[in-house]
Formats: sequence, C-alpha cells, structure tokens
Amino acid sequence: MGELIDGKAIAEQIKSQLKAEIGTLTEKVGRAPGLGVILVGDNPASKVYVTNKRKACDELNIFSQEYLLDKHVEERVLRETIEQLNKDDRIDGILLQLPLPDHLDEDAMVSLIEPAKDVDGFHKLNLGRLLWGKELFVACTPLGVQQLLLRSGVKIEGSHVVIVGRSNIVGKPLATLLMQKKPGANATVTVCHSRTGNLGEITRTADILVAAMGSPGTITADMVRPGAVVVDVGINRIPDETRKSGYRLVGDVDFDAVKDVASKITPVPGGVGPMTIAMLMANTVRSFKMRNGLPV
Ligand code: GUN
Repeated sequence: MGELIDGKAIAEQIKSQLKAEIGTLTEKVGRAPGLGVILVGDNPASKVYVTNKRKACDELNIFSQEYLLDKHVEERVLRETIEQLNKDDRIDGILLQLPLPDHLDEDAMVSLIEPAKDVDGFHKLNLGRLLWGKELFVACTPLGVQQLLLRSGVKIEGSHVVIVGRSNIVGKPLATLLMQKKPGANATVTVCHSRTGNLGEITRTADILVAAMGSPGTITADMVRPGAVVVDVGINRIPDETRKSGYRLVGDVDFDAVKDVASKITPVPGGVGPMTIAMLMANTVRSFKMRNGLPV
C-alpha cells in the first residue's frame, strides 16, 4: 500500500505554529485576530464546516463572530451584514459560507466583501491577483493542497499535475497556484472535467493527481499511474445504515483500490479537509498582520 498523507497531523502542526504566533501578535497589537463567519440557511455540510471553523478559532485564540441568517433572508439583510463586517475593526477576515440559497446571487454577494478581508480568496480582485502572480489571499483548499504536498516531501516543481474538476473554489485557483513561476509551484498543470473525452488516458500521465469533481469513487485504480501521488479533495456523504448519523464521508477516489497503486495518497476524512481549515486560520493571521502594518 502507498503511504498515507496525514492531513490531520499536518494541519495540527500548522495550527500549533499559528497559535504561538497569534499569542505574540495579540500582545504586540493589543487585540486578537478576528474572523466573521456568515452562514445562510441550514445546509448540513455547511453547518459542519462552520462549526469546525469556530472550533479552530477557539483553539487558536482567534476572535470569531458568527452570523446565522435564515434561508429566506432578504438580500438587503445579507448585504448589510457584509457591510457591517467590512467596517468592523475587530474583524480581519470575512467568510461567507457557500453555497448560498438560490434566491441570492453568490457572485454579487462575494463581490461586496472588502478584498483586504477576503480570507477565502473568492473575490474577483483576489482571483485576478492570483492570475497575475501577485497574490493577496489565495483560496484555502488550493493553499491546503499545496502545503500538504510540500510538507509531505512531494516534489511539485517540474511535475505533471492533473486536476480533475474546474470549480471556481478548487480546480481553477489550484491550477493557477501550482503553475506559478515560484518556489513550491512551477508544475506542468492539466485540468480535466466532466466533458473530458479521454479522462483515464490523461489521468494516467499524472505524477500528482488531484480529484476535485465532487462525485464519489470516480477515480478508479486503472486511472492512476503506479507510483503517482493522489490527492482527494472530494467530501461526499453517502448513505450508511451502520452509522448512527445514517451516512459516511467518502472522497472522489476509490480509496481501497487506488491506495495499492499510488505511492502516496490522502484519506477522506483526514486529508485535505483539515488543511482547508488550517489555511483559513493562516489567511486570517496574514490579514491581521497586513492590517496592522506588520510584515507577512
Ligand atoms: N463551501 C465549500 N467550501 C468552502 C470554503 O472553503 N469557503 C466557503 N466560504 N464556502 C465553502
């Protein structure tokens, strides 16, 4: 079996470094870094994410404020909530949990977030800066995947990275991040998606294969070159009557079969998920430093 990449352990290591740094920074500035989180509606997966974010803030001594809005909330109310957080000096990062209910325009709402507080890196200004190679904030999951690879000793530079999935949150920013002309990047990147004709043929050419399409077990063993590194970004709930909750989480990779082909592989849960949270904390500290004129 390939080596397991322990995202939970790596995330813990990053968080403990951040916690020490936050202690020093809080003393220096006279207040703690602050994160404002907005959740609209009651999507069960979103509620889990938001709870995990709050726990991480508590653990690291980051001030966090949550706004839980009804799923039928008027756009005006959401707009005012974002504007209030933009103005609040205690808040360094604003996170609007996606997806939003259908009556709200995600693009318009994300665009209201002050780019200097956009710790999710979803604002078009921050996406544009990433394209230019002048990043302010990069989305947390792509950053988490990069850190996971670097901290596991995987060579990104010069490698062929194949990303399956072209979302605005993962596929597109991750492709951009890993092709940057910078240390920790310089990869050759191919992006595949649901309309890619010869998917298996392309994924078999990957040194590093990233599955981020949101469909359970789609990457099968025959799609992976022996010795490749496999990163599974998928978090899918599938029914499981043996669990108290009635479901279990699986990734986009057929883990049981692919683990015997890959040289290294991330599990679900305990792979990319905890890294996303750790990078959100890192981005919040980064914002805090920049907003207080400290070097980043
Ligand atoms: N929905 C799924 N992942 C994310 C994320 O990283 N940030 C936000 N805001 N919403 C999400």
